[in-house]
Amino acid sequence: MTPPATLTPTIADNDAIDRASQCLLVGGLVAFPTETVYGLGADATSDQAVARIFEAKGRPQFNPLISHVSGVEMAGQLGELSGLALKLAHAFWPGPLTLVVLRAPNCPVSLLASAGLDTIAIRMPNHPVAQALIGRVQRPLAAPSANPSGRVSPTTAQHVTEGLDGRIDMVLDGGPCTVGLESTVVSVVSDQVRLLRPGTITREQLEAVCSVVEDTNGAAIEAPGMLASHYAPNASVRLNVSAPADNEALLGFGPDLPQHDGPVANLSPTADLVEAAANLFAKLRQLDATSPHGIAVMPIPTDGIGEAINDRLKRAAAPKT
Ligand code: TXA
Ligand code: MG
Repeated sequence: MTPPATLTPTIADNDAIDRASQCLLVGGLVAFPTETVYGLGADATSDQAVARIFEAKGRPQFNPLISHVSGVEMAGQLGELSGLALKLAHAFWPGPLTLVVLRAPNCPVSLLASAGLDTIAIRMPNHPVAQALIGRVQRPLAAPSANPSGRVSPTTAQHVTEGLDGRIDMVLDGGPCTVGLESTVVSVVSDQVRLLRPGTITREQLEAVCSVVEDTNGAAIEAPGMLASHYAPNASVRLNVSAPADNEALLGFGPDLPQHDGPVANLSPTADLVEAAANLFAKLRQLDATSPHGIAVMPIPTDGIGEAINDRLKRAAAPKT
């Protein structure tokens, strides 16, 4: 399959979803909207299709992928769902929670998607286009965020075409993502829930359902994608800044921004963390497009979804290797 030279988003109506599903069934790559970020989808049961994801993203092979499913029933064909896993699925699906569980004995998902681990990451997205697409294909879709590896995640169809033009077959346009930040990843391999990647479902929300074990070292090993510089704009990123330098762009938060003559964007003028999460990647892109010397980010509170926002910002600011 040869991807089109120029990628134009396709409005995600029924006809487009039909064409997208046919493309996926012959091993194509289709970017589609979810409530969190746009995913770069492929038939998770096809080794070739999954390999194409890694190639299109320039992604290190050791970073495993999430399989997106239509519901608990499909999830149960892929992974061993313990009582605890089912409890979490019932509490948060469809929605931005990814469960890492042991692969089922007859799991049809390509081993490449598990990157050599005996576990599999599964999530049921809460987006009508994503659900319609999985329903049409009748197979799990492997889908990382639809951006070149290490770069800022896409929250609009245009962001996808900016990064992956010429490398993928189709982009379904379902408008901007409402949540804007990736799913929370938890391991439920043992009888304890371990937080591997902070995300949209907050620690507090998880703890209302079950206890959550603190294990950042284990998380680094088990979710290898969490180690490196990630979510990175071209410009360097400086965190917790109260006084930006003249040649920096300012990413603000809240009603009181310092006086600044350079480019300014505000994640949430009313200091609303949910709004800030939804805006994070788009505002980073907006400031990066002004080619500043660097991007100075004001302090963001760490409670609730602020934990995930600070996690992404920390990776965006990490030295690029
Ligand atoms: O919101 C999201 O999760 C988006 C949308 C498209 O669903 N997807 C996404 O995928 O963020 P990606 O590939 O960018 O991030 C997947 C994360 C990585 O940190 C990866 O290491 C972890 O999930 N992961 C995947 N499979 C795993 C496994 N078997 N064990 C541990 N971590 C795993
Ligand atoms: Mg990603």
